[in-house]
Amino acid sequence: LPQSRDASGATGTPLTPVLTSYWDDDRSWTLDTYRRHHGYEALPLALGMEPDAVVGAVKDSGLRGRGGAGFSTGTKWSFIPQGDDKPHYLVVNADESEPGTCKDIPFMYATPHALIEGVIIAAYAIRARHAFIYLRGEAVPVLRRLHAAVAEAYGAGYLGADILGSGYDLDVVVHAGAGAYICGEETALLDSLEGRRGQPRLRPPFPAVAGLYASPTVVNNVESIANVPPIIRNGVEWYRSMGTEKSPGFALFSLSGHVTTPGQYEAPLGITLRELLEYAGGVRAGHRLKFWTPGGSSTPIFTDEHLDIPLDYESVGAAGSMLGTRALQIFDETTCVVRTVLRWSEFYAHESCGKCTPCREGTWWLVQILDRLEHGRGTEEDLAKLLDISDNILGRAFCALGDGATSPITSSIGYFRDEYLAHFEHGGCPFDPHRATLAA
Ligand code: NAI
Repeated sequence: LPQSRDASGATGTPLTPVLTSYWDDDRSWTLDTYRRHHGYEALPLALGMEPDAVVGAVKDSGLRGRGGAGFSTGTKWSFIPQGDDKPHYLVVNADESEPGTCKDIPFMYATPHALIEGVIIAAYAIRARHAFIYLRGEAVPVLRRLHAAVAEAYGAGYLGADILGSGYDLDVVVHAGAGAYICGEETALLDSLEGRRGQPRLRPPFPAVAGLYASPTVVNNVESIANVPPIIRNGVEWYRSMGTEKSPGFALFSLSGHVTTPGQYEAPLGITLRELLEYAGGVRAGHRLKFWTPGGSSTPIFTDEHLDIPLDYESVGAAGSMLGTRALQIFDETTCVVRTVLRWSEFYAHESCGKCTPCREGTWWLVQILDRLEHGRGTEEDLAKLLDISDNILGRAFCALGDGATSPITSSIGYFRDEYLAHFEHGGCPFDPHRATLAA
């Protein structure tokens, strides 16, 4: 098993470097390096199987979507209608932009071929002959690496006509978006890819039935697709030997913020933040954990009470949050929770696409109220208003953006109500060293 303990000698759940195992190698992004690390060994195995058997293996592995929602990847593939006359498409969602989420971009930058091999196997499994990688527009260096890697793969006979003599043809197009958070929502992404303004579509129908150009389409996150070659090469049992029964396998955990060694930690699902912090050298010296996000800012925050919650879909859900993208943003006691939530809310208000009223109007109002609270001009009534507006967005917005915007607000008021109250009781942010001057 590719499991190793970190050199720091941390005890507990071992890290499981699979996708990250050669990120630090010289020229890790080239075909030569990828081949030295079992690269493209899964592809002939998959091409030697019936497409449905590949879908079956991924289903049996229990792989769950790594883009945030955790939907079963193999099940999603099996929704693609077979025997129809429409083309099938595979679209890789590489538009990573959830605040704190920073795993797909470094992964593609370090090892683009690991994604491309997964794309070929996934496209073969769903009988697609065209695949698209929709990349976040700002990630220009990643775009260049992906273009170069796709060209290398065509040159080596892994893409194009009659791949490895199997009779299977596949073309891959790398498309750069223009930097809109909403285009990470799968149906807005498809609109954008078709050349329209990116706004979410009504679901159902889900993309599996009517996606790109109204054809059956699988939209998968980068990390989900990258899990496929190791599963095919090492087998379902190997994969299931890591993680938990309902959340099997390994995943990238992105630690950022007030932590000694921020970065990507690849570990089995079910590891705890306490264990991950051991690998990451702990909260920065001299400070203690105040609050954190288990899966980016769209998931309800956690506090130091939650250090031992296993980071798998079920346990995080049972504790009142969501595993999401495993973007673990760490905040120590010097951080003002109101200011943090205000910054996130400004992001959501800016990124709301404006299609639905609850999200467009609601996120704007959330910012107005949080801004006056943070600057000491709020009232206790404002807290009730924040919760009321959140309640009117949650479940009523067109897509997950609106729901996500309410999570940090409702959860932070739940855990830190006194800190909100302290802002208007003391005429400003208690964490602002210039508060006295500002008030004067
Ligand atoms: P969802 O749970 O509605 O759907 C998840 C996936 O399963 C989709 O691909 C959907 O098409 C498919 N699916 C669900 N039910 C289906 C059915 N009955 N038939 C066919 N397919 C079905 O979640 P959604 O709205 O796609 O994503 C929300 C998540 O995205 C959040 O939990 C959040 O963590 C994450 N997110 C990630 C970001 C990032 O940068 N990676 C940014 C923002 C949010």
